[in-house]
Amino acid sequence: MALTLSTARSAPAAAELVGIGIFKGADLPENLPSAVLESRGFDGSLGKTMIVETADGLRAAVGLGPAEDFTANALRRAGAGFARATRRHKQVALSLIADAVKEIDGLDQGAAAEALAEGLELGAYRFETYKSKPARNDLKKVTIVGTTSAAVKNGLAVGAAIAEGQMLARTLVNEPGGTLTPPELATRVQAMAKSAGLTCKVMDLAAIKRAKLGGLLGVNRGSTNPPRFVELTWTPKGKVTSTLAFVGKGVTFDAGGLSIKTGAGMMTMKCDMGGAAAVIGAMSALKAVDVGVRVKAYLPLTDNMLGGDATRPGDVLKIRNGKTIEVLNTDAEGRLILADALSLASEAKPDAIIDLATLTGACMVALGPKIAGLMSNDDDFAATVKAAAEAADERVWQLPLPADYSSQFESSVADMKNIGGSHGGAITAGLILQNFVAEDIPWVHLDIAGPAWTDSEDPENRKGGTGFGVRTLVQLARTWQ
Ligand code: BES
Ligand code: MN
Ligand code: ZN
Repeated sequence: MALTLSTARSAPAAAELVGIGIFKGADLPENLPSAVLESRGFDGSLGKTMIVETADGLRAAVGLGPAEDFTANALRRAGAGFARATRRHKQVALSLIADAVKEIDGLDQGAAAEALAEGLELGAYRFETYKSKPARNDLKKVTIVGTTSAAVKNGLAVGAAIAEGQMLARTLVNEPGGTLTPPELATRVQAMAKSAGLTCKVMDLAAIKRAKLGGLLGVNRGSTNPPRFVELTWTPKGKVTSTLAFVGKGVTFDAGGLSIKTGAGMMTMKCDMGGAAAVIGAMSALKAVDVGVRVKAYLPLTDNMLGGDATRPGDVLKIRNGKTIEVLNTDAEGRLILADALSLASEAKPDAIIDLATLTGACMVALGPKIAGLMSNDDDFAATVKAAAEAADERVWQLPLPADYSSQFESSVADMKNIGGSHGGAITAGLILQNFVAEDIPWVHLDIAGPAWTDSEDPENRKGGTGFGVRTLVQLARTWQ
């Protein structure tokens, strides 16, 4: 765990400062120098933290936003702002759940503690593996003051575990594509699985050939790095009543293949395993959350390069389920490897399948950089995933899967082409994926091309990988029956 989070009746003597939550528009407490805070522009805005000296020592005013808008999600953002602002201090205390917040009607203390822990951890996150001089980040311990209830303690532990999963996803995305090759990624997943109570099966090139994963093999053909296919399983205590399948696109670098991308288009393409990273991060937290259903993860891993024997436009690939695809644009590679993964997931007959993929630039055109596209073959499961995403404060928006659009990818030589027409590319990609999901299995596809990565900072995110999807997947698993 990056931070040590604990609870105490009052601030420990070793705490170098104490944070105090303040709602926007509310009067400042008497022990804070209101003139100083006001002159420095502090107004209780959510995510803003300002450190001030007082006669009693250092205090931090922690903005909570308007009281009437306050939710557990606001607490995540406030915690993130606080962790960022106090990074020069080793040990700090925070009085949030105690005073202001406990008066809020309907706010569950456990859920509040969970969101707060997530915010604290995420706000303190940095990716500095390759910095010879890492930025100063001293924060080690945060004590939540004013309550020692079991619900709050447990919420802090669970929130920290979920945040750790999200930070793992971020770090995997932030690792350079030349470093995090498919074999290296598989090795890291194996190590994670051991400590997270998961079983892990890794298929190498020979096993992938035996399993007839023609999409994965076709995309890998232009690379000198071999592919991997990783399966993870979480098995709950007691009788297994239901099984969820998580599928994640794991393109460790997307150069586009022979249909090569532009230099600018390639710049962030180490993020193209963001779907796999989200699944890996979520799987890592299932034990801590004590998920009561079985969860299986399917991760096809390859890069998309353009070596001398790369898949050529016009080549035909045979996917695991027997269907054939004419590859007319090698840059539409995600659907090819997901086709194999969705076929394999379907064979195990889970109760529902959700896939996450940085699949199309078209989805970013439709929804912008911060909202994922959601597509589904089942309205009930779509509603369940939307509810999970809302509870996790990750934004999704449903796009339709109109059957008649499938004529756009009819092929004269194979069962289908791997591309549709020039408009609605997020939808045609979703329709192509639907061909590889067993018809009677509820399925949701999340196109996370936008939100998997960010070029702008906010309290909870730094430039680079965001770990988008981890919280939604964990929420889905813990509420699934
Ligand atoms: N990985 C990209 C999609 C992407 C773009 C993710 C930008 C994140 C940010 C995907 O493999 C891709 O290249 N898609 C093509 C599909 C097209 C060739 C039909 C695209 O979106 O241009
Ligand atoms: Mn591509
Ligand atoms: Zn891609």
